[in-house]
Amino acid sequence: MIETLPDALGHFGVYGGMFVPETLMTALHELAAEYERAKNDAQFQNQLARLLRDFAGRPTPLYFAERLTKKLGGAKIYLKREDLLHTGAHKINNALGQILLAQRMGKNRIIAETGAGQHGVATATVAARFGCECVVYMGAVDMERQALNVLGSHPYPMMVRDFQRVIGEETRKQIFDREQRLPDLLVACVGGGSNAIGLFHPFLSDASVRMVGVEAGGEGIRSGKHAARFQGGRLGVLQGTKTFLLANEDGQIELTHSVSAGLDYAAVGPEHSYLREIGRVEYDFATDDEALAGFKLLSETEGIIPALETAHAVAHIAKVAPKMSVDKIIVMNCSGRGDKDVATAAKHLLSSSRAQSRDPAAKPLR
Ligand SMILES: Cc1ncc(COP(=O)(O)O)c(C=O)c1O
Repeated sequence: MIETLPDALGHFGVYGGMFVPETLMTALHELAAEYERAKNDAQFQNQLARLLRDFAGRPTPLYFAERLTKKLGGAKIYLKREDLLHTGAHKINNALGQILLAQRMGKNRIIAETGAGQHGVATATVAARFGCECVVYMGAVDMERQALNVLGSHPYPMMVRDFQRVIGEETRKQIFDREQRLPDLLVACVGGGSNAIGLFHPFLSDASVRMVGVEAGGEGIRSGKHAARFQGGRLGVLQGTKTFLLANEDGQIELTHSVSAGLDYAAVGPEHSYLREIGRVEYDFATDDEALAGFKLLSETEGIIPALETAHAVAHIAKVAPKMSVDKIIVMNCSGRGDKDVATAAKHLLSSSRAQSRDPAAKPLR
């Protein structure tokens, strides 16, 4: 049973585990044990459900993207609107779960590490809500300071997945209400993998539901400037977990690149490595240019500005939806809103349209 993983030490097949210095082991075991108790504690779950509803804004809508569907001319496209949550992305689901756990364990100093900033904002927000001190590390210097960060070790991948599962649970119910059936395809972008695993997990035993995770293809796989761990990545250990990652032949972690900071990460959550290995979930990638075109496409057709991370999933849909028949259903996780990315996207889109206007042979972006 895929759903019962990980095992007690955090393994998803050969992936996952606890690769941390022995000084951190006790703390992690303490956390895993307390999490197990919290998971089965109705009071904890009720408090979390109340906060997700009243503070974060759950349930998020499942929105039929009518104009996007028409424009692409194939499968019916639904968007799970995590972008409408407080702080603008799915990150708040996990941040709320973890702050409640910290409270329960009497921990009042919260630290977080963030790539795109969304997780940092969500963590600082819930810390303020509970009156805790909070430090958020971001950027290259902080990567060094956080070299022993335990964000990838057991029990974190399991906890993050459990706190994000609400995305898929709601989607299941909502699509049944709307269409009286399961979707044919689920699509989500994959950085560390939390929004994707949250959407996919409740559908894992539904064999008819295909799932695709979309990684950052950056400037193309051959350029080496990307963050697509499943395209040329290898098995290794980073930040406490065994998983697919981008490293050179000597095992040194490669520099990654993506137009979206949130997908620009050298490793992927261990459960994704496992789901790929057993063939349950497929992984593809979208390049920077494709993601920027996806950003524009969703903004123009639906008036929804996606985060650049999310735009990678849009780019995938733009490729596959036209090839699917009109009776098929796609659900894409709209993991975050794009306000934070408008300046970056404008810079790239403007410079590419200038280049095109100088080159009379060039085709429009999309
Ligand atoms: C809006 C948004 N989507 C997706 C991601 C990628 O993270 P994950 O793969 O863990 O969902 C991020 C990360 O910062 C994000 O901000």
